[in-house]
Amino acid sequence: MIKEGELYFPTKEFQKKAWVKNAKIYKEAEKDPVKFWENLAAQLFWFEKWEKPFVHQPPYFQWFVNGKINITSNIFEKNLQGWENIKNKAALIWEPEPIEQSVKILTYEELFKKVCCLANGLKKLGVKKGDRVGIYLPMISEAIISILACARIGVVHAVVFSAFSSAALKARLVTNEAKILITADGYYRRGQIVNLKQNADEGIKETKIEKVIVVKRAENEINWNSEKDVWYEDLIRNESEQCEAKIMDSEDLLFLLATSGSTGSPKQVMHTCGGYTIQTYWTGKWIFDFHKNDIFWCTSDPGWVTGHTYTIYSPLLNGITTLMFEGAPDWPEPDRWAQIIEKHKITIFYTAPTAIRMFEKYGADVIKKYKFATLRLLGSVGEPIDESAWLWYFREVGKERCPIVDTWWQTETGGILITSLPGIGPFKPAFTGLPFPGVKIDILENNLVILPPFSPGMFRGIYKNPQKYLETYWSQTKKNVYFTSDVAHKNEQGLIRIIGRVDDVIKVAGHRLTTGELEAAINLHSEIIESAAIGIPDEIKGEAPVVFVVYRGEKTHDEIKKEVIAQIKKEIGPIALPKEIYIIKDLPKTRSGKIMRRILKKLLVKEELGDLSTLRNPEIVEEIRKIIKL
Ligand code: WT7
Repeated sequence: MIKEGELYFPTKEFQKKAWVKNAKIYKEAEKDPVKFWENLAAQLFWFEKWEKPFVHQPPYFQWFVNGKINITSNIFEKNLQGWENIKNKAALIWEPEPIEQSVKILTYEELFKKVCCLANGLKKLGVKKGDRVGIYLPMISEAIISILACARIGVVHAVVFSAFSSAALKARLVTNEAKILITADGYYRRGQIVNLKQNADEGIKETKIEKVIVVKRAENEINWNSEKDVWYEDLIRNESEQCEAKIMDSEDLLFLLATSGSTGSPKQVMHTCGGYTIQTYWTGKWIFDFHKNDIFWCTSDPGWVTGHTYTIYSPLLNGITTLMFEGAPDWPEPDRWAQIIEKHKITIFYTAPTAIRMFEKYGADVIKKYKFATLRLLGSVGEPIDESAWLWYFREVGKERCPIVDTWWQTETGGILITSLPGIGPFKPAFTGLPFPGVKIDILENNLVILPPFSPGMFRGIYKNPQKYLETYWSQTKKNVYFTSDVAHKNEQGLIRIIGRVDDVIKVAGHRLTTGELEAAINLHSEIIESAAIGIPDEIKGEAPVVFVVYRGEKTHDEIKKEVIAQIKKEIGPIALPKEIYIIKDLPKTRSGKIMRRILKKLLVKEELGDLSTLRNPEIVEEIRKIIKL
């Protein structure tokens, strides 16, 4: 029985079958990380081998230079497991939200054919290598098919999370200048149908979108623009089920994915073909210990990087079965997630601490009847997992038998870079573990940094914004040290513990949101003078935003609060909704006019305020304190 503060190691049984069980691998990789990755890369399928493994021109770097590859060839016809061995095996199990609808299973061959049909359909619409295609789809199989179809023909996919608002969609489409958007009529969320097409119609205004491909999912009524809109089914109906893979340069763009930056506007990070394929294959294989009969459930939506890398690409590159669930894990019953694990015989389950805390809150009784006999490994991602959630996950879900890999990474890193390997350990609650072999991590004055040669799958820049790339990641220390914006510690065994962010990022249920983007959304309201957003600890979500809004008009506070909520939904989407909104007359500011968010935070978490003499308006602090107490 594991006790608090203890170290834990994999069981003998787990270790025996694990791909990596000898800690020697760390030393070997450290000797020459570039050589190490080169050896790993050589095991995948390349049309042409690279000339140089790694080229560094700070702050830029490249991997497998002049190598030629296509990630979909490595998933399908050139899969390392052998195409004949996997083509009739389930690539995807799709579980719909409505209980009464049927599960869909696609074999590798069926998936391949669908990918080729859509790829041919896209070509017919005139997209070429390097063009961007926007994907604004819910958790349905067409999201996977669309991503892979783009990759097949060298088109850059730019997925936008389906719960983002039309304004958020538009902001992304304007920057990436996509000409085609793939979306759906609607989708199910907790029994309701969301009209996604309506958001898409709004979101493509004033963008370069020429055609909208619409998947029929919820069969809700939608507006139809016969010049732009085309049904997905109509587009692919007569297309061939064969489509040659485009031969891609290792450093060609594979996808763009927006993430919150330290300021208001989202930045689209660039991931390239070669390095990402290699890193995605190997991190999955070693960290989730993918073996041929595994059925992997990563709960992430494809709208996030975790969905890209571990719901889709990594399990498929490894030739195993991935499960995608359309709905929320606690709907219509709090144990829906547990039902799915048992029903589909999930062997590896990967989710976020926020979900684990929610399961825990429902109480152990809800899952008492489940044995989870098929599970052999658990994973966590997105935010620090506290000791109590870790222990609950370990005992109640893993039944003290399954190792837990607490995986640290970022949208920018493309894949997991820190975690204990499951066949080696050690696992220690609240510690993510050791850097992945071949990855050099350091902690400089509590800042977590990544040292050259970084990793093959790390991003190569911010789309159309080299300045932001330089400032955000490479200007803090030296130009060859990547700044993660995370604070971390290392213990005597070298295990890394992530404490949190140093910037103004709030991690809400594992999703990244900045105070800047939230404030920018609120400030668009014509009667609101300004606002300040801060993150406070939240029992389930880890952190939750609280906003202070300066309003001096005639409306009641309730009215203004409603308008603030509507404003945030319109500009960002429901994930950014604050836990609390306070309407105030002024914000605490320094003499130079800087908003003192620190003071607001201290007021909320009831800490000593310290010296207020540097404030221009110290009297406001007491006023705000009274409002918070109301
Ligand atoms: C930030 C990146 C990783 C893909 C999903 C989130 C935090 C991530 C952990 C972890 C503690 C973690 C960091 C990081 N984070 N994983 N295991 N323990 N913190 O990607 O939205 O780009 O966010 O998430 O603060 O910088 P993202």
